Amino acid sequence: MRCSVCGAPAQVEVRRRNQAFCPEHYRAWFVNEVRRNLKRHQMIRKGDRVLVAVSGGKDSLVLWDTLTGLGYRTTGFHIQLGIGDYSKRALAATRAFAEERGLELLVVDVRESFGLTIPQLAQSTGRAACSGCGLSKRYLMNRVAADEGYGVVATGHNLDDEAATLMGNVSRWQTDALVRQGPLLEEREGLARRIKPLYTLTEREVAAYAFLAGIEYQHEECPHAEGAKSLLYKDILNRLETRMPGTKQAFLVQYLKKVQPVLKEGLAGGDVELRRCERCGQVTTGSVCAHCKLWDRAYARAKKRRLLLESRGFDPRPKVDRLKPASEA
Ligand code: AMP
Ligand code: FES
Ligand code: ZN
Ligand code: ZN
Repeated sequence: MRCSVCGAPAQVEVRRRNQAFCPEHYRAWFVNEVRRNLKRHQMIRKGDRVLVAVSGGKDSLVLWDTLTGLGYRTTGFHIQLGIGDYSKRALAATRAFAEERGLELLVVDVRESFGLTIPQLAQSTGRAACSGCGLSKRYLMNRVAADEGYGVVATGHNLDDEAATLMGNVSRWQTDALVRQGPLLEEREGLARRIKPLYTLTEREVAAYAFLAGIEYQHEECPHAEGAKSLLYKDILNRLETRMPGTKQAFLVQYLKKVQPVLKEGLAGGDVELRRCERCGQVTTGSVCAHCKLWDRAYARAKKRRLLLESRGFDPRPKVDRLKPASEA
């Protein structure tokens, strides 16, 4: 196999495009895909400050690498979930990346801020770790972006993630989620714009980029393995992809292009009114947001189990640690 650009021996094949690349041209192809996604949806606009949500895994580190490479001024944001060694290694990979490149990184430790780790939150609410975890991550991304003045939050969701989410939503016809899903969620009062610049690139393509760019990332998955469900959808999609290259992308991109607009129009008027949470001030549909409700419930049980002092009330303000690049420190 030869590189489609220069004819040198190819190292990465992109079957769905019938192309193969040498390392140099693969990286150029990948960055160009990201650039096109940013442009197509005007994800980042003039004067935007971008907060990149970085887990320490390959997707978000590759995202951070490509955005800085394209010249955007970005700050990383890592949420320390307190899931044992898994979380420690995630922070270590994120810090090492930031320090090596002289990038600013914000860190919020869930336990330092709110008193419980994600596993303790799960124990105290009796809900699966992933559901409280997802809710806390969303809350913190929005909250820290608003408090620190970032208009855009970028996440590392790739094509496999997005196609699996779509399949999950379709299998139960979750119309609310289907209408909202997409690579760009415009800012609304008090909520930063949310962007997913890697949404057309497969997990395998992201991994190949990470390898060729020498990015050291955390390989292990969260031990609470985000439900077998999303992994099952990914597996099904990969089997389709092997037989029919391009299926994954067509499934997602054609949905966004052809079906979602019709669905949106058909459901028009269903927009819910947004208010401010009485407790934390974040945007919500009820009087108290889901995040405050969840933590209030967890506090009640955690106190009974003596995980928390009886006198401690839930304070929704996160404590942000700022790791400045060495040159500015
Ligand atoms: P996941 O839901 O774990 O597949 O992660 C999707 C995206 O959310 C990642 O690509 C990151 O951009 C972001 N993310 C996940 N976990 C964290 C974390 N602990 N801290 C900051 N961002 C995260
Ligand atoms: Fe959130 Fe696993 S429970 S990353
Ligand atoms: Zn080449
Ligand atoms: Zn709230």
